[in-house]
Amino acid sequence: MLKGFFLGLAAFGAVVLAILLYGVYNTFIHPLRSYPGPPLWKAFRLPYVISIHRGDMHRRLKEFHDKYGLIVRIAPNELSYADGRAWKDIYANRPGHLPFKRNPTWFQKLKADDPKSIMGPDEDAHSRIRRAFANSFSEKSLKDQSPIIERHVEGFMNQLKSPTSGRLWKEKGIDLVKWLNFLTFDISGDLSFGESFESVKNGKEHPWVAIAQDFGKGLSLITTANLYPPLNKMLRYILPKKIIQRQIDHRAMSAAKARKRLAMDTDRPDLVTLVKKYNDKKMALSDKEWEINMTMMIFAGSETTASALSAIFRELAQSRGVIYSLTQEIREAFQEESQITIASTRDLPYMNAVINEGLRLDPAVVVGVPRVVPKGGDTICGKWVSEGTYVAFNQFSANRLERNFHYPNSFIPERFLTKSLGRDDLSTFQPFGIGRHSCIGMKLAYAEMRLIIARLLYSFDLTLADEKDRWDWGGQATYMFWVKRPLQVILRRSGRT
Ligand code: HEM
Repeated sequence: MLKGFFLGLAAFGAVVLAILLYGVYNTFIHPLRSYPGPPLWKAFRLPYVISIHRGDMHRRLKEFHDKYGLIVRIAPNELSYADGRAWKDIYANRPGHLPFKRNPTWFQKLKADDPKSIMGPDEDAHSRIRRAFANSFSEKSLKDQSPIIERHVEGFMNQLKSPTSGRLWKEKGIDLVKWLNFLTFDISGDLSFGESFESVKNGKEHPWVAIAQDFGKGLSLITTANLYPPLNKMLRYILPKKIIQRQIDHRAMSAAKARKRLAMDTDRPDLVTLVKKYNDKKMALSDKEWEINMTMMIFAGSETTASALSAIFRELAQSRGVIYSLTQEIREAFQEESQITIASTRDLPYMNAVINEGLRLDPAVVVGVPRVVPKGGDTICGKWVSEGTYVAFNQFSANRLERNFHYPNSFIPERFLTKSLGRDDLSTFQPFGIGRHSCIGMKLAYAEMRLIIARLLYSFDLTLADEKDRWDWGGQATYMFWVKRPLQVILRRSGRT
């Protein structure tokens, strides 16, 4: 009995010693030992995992960059960058350098026969799929898709303007975050599945969208499990059956919708027609790849755009001077609401500055998917980094650093207009990423955002429902994406409609 106790104690002691030695190795001997960072995070991966699950990674990284500088070691084998030079070094194709691939712990396939996606770590599959989609995101395609998007925004405006209790209204309170989410998912659904989710029309979230909202949390869970193999293999046994079933149902629903769109014999200008034509010639995508990639497109396109718009509207509602100037610009540019289109909103300078400032202060992609330093190691920001290290440029912390932007926590669109303000390092500002994995939907996203902002501020004067409801967007939790709190606003008819 006593012997068993001592054996147990010895085993426990050995485990504790091994953990301590592991921490000592990571701190004093590991090739990344010279990089500064919080001691516990440098020694062990666990604090990182805890932070991911608490949804406060973006704030912790900001604190660390404030304290330790532009490059911080945030796990035994991971560096976070807030130095503008890192964009090119990590994400661009550098002649004579091997590519930094996406970290497979983030978008790892759950099963070996899972189809490949544009978001995945397999570079060959990525370029094959990206090539297939490229034409659907050209300037010409955006022009052709414009009527579909404009029709959705028209429907959204009509819903907002619709009479309440049978009477026309002068003033109305709504949660704008909820409605923007409905709208961006409806647009993406129409462009990718050939049919809208009709959340705007029905005034409530479609079940497909409701399940998709859990995607960020699910991804955080899978990612952190992937960091601790064989925990990842056990996930499907550990996760509650209900959650797994929800995911299976969601996949089946997506597959059915994707197949339905593929079966349509149509030339409608959406994200599918051109890819389908390309695929007929080149056989680029298997059926299963179609299904997963169309779902990815919807999610990548709507969640990000909804977050960006929600953040921009919150900043506008909290900044009287800015919303006034922007409203003036829009109402001076257009005499009739019908003049407001994707094409006609392209070149409004203050609007573009407002959108960029929103993307800077509250980036939709908060924490970057890390890349892996290739075989043989490489230099980043002039300093050697060993092979296999995970590296990422983290937008939230970089964009809010005083070293990169003056008054970094304030919403000042003018910084994108007046070079003489000049105290900002705009090389750090890349809200859509750069390189071969940069955002394929950037033009579409800007087009949607401009149109929606212009239509709303043309027709309505917008104010916070509660003047005290003011807070920093960065205070929200993030699970890959923002967990958005409501934005209760009062819409007053501007008299322009
Ligand atoms: C404000 C809105 C948006 C923002 C801020 C945004 C941002 C980004 C960023 C930073 C990346 C790079 C991720 C990485 O490097 O790992 C990315 C990739 C991507 N985005 Fe967007 N995005 C937005 C809207 C859209 C839209 C509207 C679509 C399409 C309908 C889209 C589709 C994609 C896809 C497919 C990728 C992966 C590209 C690749 O790996 O080749 N995004 N986005």
